Amino acid sequence: MSQSVLVTGGAGYIGSHACKALARAGYQPVVFDNLSRGHREAVRWGPLIEGDLADRNRLVMALETHQVAAVMHFAAYAYVGESVADPAMYYRNNLAGSLSLLEAVREVGVDKMVFSSSCATYGIPVGSPIRESAPQLPVNPYGETKLAIERALHWFGQAYGLRSVSLRYFNAAGADLEGEIGEFHEPETHLVPLVLQAALKRRPHVDIYGTDYPTADGTAIRDYIHVGDLAEAHLRALEYLCAGRESTALNLGTGRGHSVREVIAVAESVCGRAIPRRETARRAGDPAVLVADPSRAAEQFGWRARNSDLQTIIATAFAWLQRCVKQ
Ligand code: UFG
Repeated sequence: MSQSVLVTGGAGYIGSHACKALARAGYQPVVFDNLSRGHREAVRWGPLIEGDLADRNRLVMALETHQVAAVMHFAAYAYVGESVADPAMYYRNNLAGSLSLLEAVREVGVDKMVFSSSCATYGIPVGSPIRESAPQLPVNPYGETKLAIERALHWFGQAYGLRSVSLRYFNAAGADLEGEIGEFHEPETHLVPLVLQAALKRRPHVDIYGTDYPTADGTAIRDYIHVGDLAEAHLRALEYLCAGRESTALNLGTGRGHSVREVIAVAESVCGRAIPRRETARRAGDPAVLVADPSRAAEQFGWRARNSDLQTIIATAFAWLQRCVKQ
């Protein structure tokens, strides 16, 4: 029998890509999702258990029924602006929800967890590229809750033997290379889908938030990482834990940064059309540059991004969006 992995948030963007990667590698992904932000149609590689992280008994039931060997924990709200406007919601869902999961996992004796953390735990970085040893000083409740969960995992490891890998994503983007799943957020706030929606005339233009950053073209720089590369890193993390290795935390990025203007230029070349844009003020809380040093992931997992050139990210996201428009 294939080993079952509980995937919280498996109906979401990154979680659904991880489920596909798990199934392809011979695992059985069991999705636990309340569908508040995820999509039933994205659950295609194993059963869906509809439930909320706050419902510890339901989590225990899911873990026991499917004889789960490990957990991948994606379920979370992930809008920085929303977290500033409504921190209570983020502390309750992301932090209290994760604590409920950790207690359920402890109760049934599962001892391996891969956790979706974020570069938002670093806050405003002091240097670039960012190493894992950089100070973690989040500047919003979203980043605070992710960091608090990393710390809880550390102490649960010390006290109860739970081993974990925290994966600090930089900017997830792109869609499944085979076009089966992709990004669908409501509302959409991320740059790549917004640029492509403007290309498809589903919105009048894309806003460029800030043209006065201390960067070569004045716009902010991010490290865009293909969602399929993220999914692959989760598999490596799982295998690392299954091999009995110690808990760790790793950056997932490419080590290369791209400005907002560069993203728009590559999108114009991929789509073969001009994309209307409007230059506006900076968005509050956006750092000028966020670029990963991904070398620890290469050393510990032998992982590196393979499909995260901007061309592939944008081409796969565009193919997905066109498919969604047609439906
Ligand atoms: N941007 C625009 N116009 C837009 C949207 C975004 O110019 O319409 C810019 C942003 O200012 C930023 C870049 O494009 O410089 C990327 O913005 P995204 O909103 O796509 O992504 P973020 O870098 O803000 O957010 C990502 C993750 C978050 C995580 C954060 C850490 O999506 O989950 O990195 O800072 F918290």
